[in-house]
Amino acid sequence: LVIVLDFGGQYNQLVARRVRECNVYCEIYSYKTDIEKIKAMNPKGIILTGGPNSCYEADSPTYSKELFELGVPVLGLCYGAQLMMHVLGGKVERADVREYGKTEVLIDKTQSKIFADVSPKTVCWMSHFDYISQVAPGFEISSHTKDCPCASAENEEKKLYAIQFHPEVLHTQEGTKMLYNFVRGVCQCSGDWRMDSFVEESIKAIREKVGDGKVLCALSGGVDSSVAAVMLSKAIGKQLTCVFVDHGLLRKNEGDEVEAVFGPDGPYDLNFIRVNAQERYYSKLAGVKEPEQKRKIIGEEFIRVFEEEAKKIGAVDFLVQGTIYPDVVESGLGGESAVIKSHHNVGGLPDCVDFKEIIEPLRDLFKDEVRKAGLEMGIPEYLVYRQPFPGPGLGIRIIGEVTAEKVKMVQDADAIYREEIANAGLDKTIGQYFAALTNMRSVGVMGDERTYDYAIALRAVNTVDFMTAEAAEIPYEVLSKVMSRIINEVRGVNRVMYDLTSKPPGTIEFE
Ligand code: XMP
Repeated sequence: LVIVLDFGGQYNQLVARRVRECNVYCEIYSYKTDIEKIKAMNPKGIILTGGPNSCYEADSPTYSKELFELGVPVLGLCYGAQLMMHVLGGKVERADVREYGKTEVLIDKTQSKIFADVSPKTVCWMSHFDYISQVAPGFEISSHTKDCPCASAENEEKKLYAIQFHPEVLHTQEGTKMLYNFVRGVCQCSGDWRMDSFVEESIKAIREKVGDGKVLCALSGGVDSSVAAVMLSKAIGKQLTCVFVDHGLLRKNEGDEVEAVFGPDGPYDLNFIRVNAQERYYSKLAGVKEPEQKRKIIGEEFIRVFEEEAKKIGAVDFLVQGTIYPDVVESGLGGESAVIKSHHNVGGLPDCVDFKEIIEPLRDLFKDEVRKAGLEMGIPEYLVYRQPFPGPGLGIRIIGEVTAEKVKMVQDADAIYREEIANAGLDKTIGQYFAALTNMRSVGVMGDERTYDYAIALRAVNTVDFMTAEAAEIPYEVLSKVMSRIINEVRGVNRVMYDLTSKPPGTIEFE
């Protein structure tokens, strides 16, 4: 185990992901975690993340000196590096020049364990306004840049390493190698954290835990709940019942696709219940325009429907949730940068079902690891690489009132958009993309007729963590083809626009 101590940096989850890519298991903990708890976990290494503060200010996050005296290798990154120096008697000050972006780093100590096989001049990602003006006693500078005399420093004997730049960010060209050198070289982690053994062990553990109990799963067809369901199915077969609520706000054909995979004709051993609740949802949503109210209705109705099904099934022993590691960190349980996206959770679900315990088989995995686990278990690629789809579905991609006609329009437009993005080979490179129906109608001309129809907005964003995002640059020919197909093939639409807004100030979804 490697512990990543989170000081509130924006890249903390990336650090953990990179470490796991070295086949080393790691977990993120807040910098407030007690030293005794850290000792008890017996880590092979500790990584201190970046953070937004200045370590010399009074109320900034800090850690006691003891952390560096455990005999466990410590790697400090950015704020973590400065803190290490500050706590151990070095000096950190505000720099004259702020370094930001790709920067050439010159390695002074080429025999440093951290820089094994790294080129003597290497491009790294910098983002700092403070700098290490004097290293702590026992440390030597191992690299520098044009503006920064200490880009990294180390006390080889005590296995303490400080790096001012961000090896976890892919812009640092040889960053993964440096992290590998730390966890596999310095910490001597064996690198046996592998997806196939994780899957195998999880299935075994679930089987033991569940015994002959009954398990209920709310299946949305999204990646997380699908992978969780398959894992459970492999562990306990028909003791698992999956309830799939088709709320009529899914993408085109999605309900049938989910049924094809998880239903009785699919490859998995489980009980599958599909509830066709489209009409129910549309009538509840009739006349409702306000976004939050729509979200609330959709969420509440889901609970109602699920509750009714659960009642038919009767008491169960376990309820499955597709919680993944970023959810755990974001809900404030793991790391420090606690941003709670309350509307992203399926609120209140456990309350309405009679069960004893929750099973969260993916709780320790990042999204890309969930995908790997899915592929490992033979789940079809198109399902595993499905992009994120919000719980309220198309309900928040139709601005204003939702009607069956509008759902059809946005479904058809979205299907065309997705097809053309895939044809252009962009489907795995763009973070998230979809069509939305604006509530705007405008005048157009088609054939020789005047039209007064709706405008579709195309959205495509690139993002690391979905908290910030930038509009993706899609080649004009692709957009143009999508536009012409939508206008020709989707009735009721006479205009197509591309949304250029980043997040912030926009959000990814429209409501
Ligand atoms: P926003 O619109 O907040 O979206 O920028 C960020 C990411 O979260 C997804 N999203 C949701 N997911 N339930 C979900 O499960 C929701 O209510 C919800 N709202 C937004 C959105 O698709 C994007 O990936």
